[in-house]
Amino acid sequence: MKTWITPWGPLSLSRFPYDDDPALQAWSGADTFLLEDFSRRRLPAGTLVLVYNDAFGALTCALLMAGYKVAQISDSALSQRATLWNVEANHLDDQDLFLLDSLSVPEGEVVLYRLPRSTDLLEYQLAQISSYLPAQGTFIATGMTKEIHTTTLTLIENLLGPTTTTPADYKARLIHTQPQPQPRPASRFPFRWSIPSLNLEIIQHAGVFSAGRLDGGTRLFLEHFPKASHLNGAVVDLGCGNGLLGLVAAKRSLSADIFCVDESFLAVWSARESFRINQMGGRGKFLCGDGLEDFDKASVDLILCNPPFHFQNAQTLSIAQKMFQMSVKVLKPDGELWVVANRHLGHHKILGELFPRVATVAYDEKYALFRCFKSSEKSAL
Ligand SMILES: C[S@@+](CC[C@H](N)C(=O)[O-])C[C@H]1O[C@@H](n2cnc3c(N)ncnc32)[C@H](O)[C@@H]1O
Repeated sequence: MKTWITPWGPLSLSRFPYDDDPALQAWSGADTFLLEDFSRRRLPAGTLVLVYNDAFGALTCALLMAGYKVAQISDSALSQRATLWNVEANHLDDQDLFLLDSLSVPEGEVVLYRLPRSTDLLEYQLAQISSYLPAQGTFIATGMTKEIHTTTLTLIENLLGPTTTTPADYKARLIHTQPQPQPRPASRFPFRWSIPSLNLEIIQHAGVFSAGRLDGGTRLFLEHFPKASHLNGAVVDLGCGNGLLGLVAAKRSLSADIFCVDESFLAVWSARESFRINQMGGRGKFLCGDGLEDFDKASVDLILCNPPFHFQNAQTLSIAQKMFQMSVKVLKPDGELWVVANRHLGHHKILGELFPRVATVAYDEKYALFRCFKSSEKSAL
């Protein structure tokens, strides 16, 4: 926990549940800059403020402390969890807090917007905001200077209205926009794309990993996918994104129970829709949460995983490592974890410490696919 001084007082904040990197904190200079601007406007307590992409609930906590109502819109189940954790840690009343996922369309006149990592998610959320924000509404966006590009500003101008940026402070900038409600073209999201070599259609929502193309790691995984005889019992696509790995498992095995898990609401939605569009709607179960938390000890036969190495705007290996630790726990004694990852991340070292036997199934210049056996007694590959 670290202390953040806000215009309304100090807050103790954590990057719950992955608060293990002392170099990182739960707020950024962009959040500080935004609140300083917002506090000078002296909006009356009780005003509803819509807050987008508040990674750990720092902005939300500050606004609740100041007496505002807050509707927080996020695509991350982990961000929602961090928010509730920080609200409780600071003894804030949560009766004025509304947590909405990014599929919900709220209503309100004051929007504080933290730029997301994904330009697609930005575009989708701006289209959503333009559908309800009135001309007299307030829109202030913020991001670190390195995250704000000409394309960012053009998108905001095109989708919301005339926009100005401030000089940099705290290594961040503010973006002020005068909303100009007018009919705009329908949003591009969600969209559909095909993988002819697999005879599959994918439905993809905004910001979901690998939009409209096959990621290099996923491709290597698909080229060396477990044989149909290995796809039995409970099979989990861990960090499923658009659900492609789970979908291929479902297509190759009629007997496996396929579970698709992701912490992104739009990813889980995309996976469910991708199963449906390929006439496999009844074959999958779709869960939004943190890794394998919903699975019992020794209940899973096979885990397929292309793990994340980012959370929000920061790189981190701790989520992948926790996924591997959870895998050891939930796999049956003869279960296996298959992991594809960027070779430079060095995941094989931690996998080797957690599993008695790890085989490299395939690799190319960039990625490697590992097969990790829970038991050392497994017969040869
Ligand atoms: C590299 S992408 C892989 C997506 C997909 N499996 C593929 O190969 O195209 C990693 C995925 O992990 C998800 N993720 C990140 N943190 C997670 C967590 N704690 N629990 C579950 N999923 C998580 C991300 O939202 C993202 O969709």
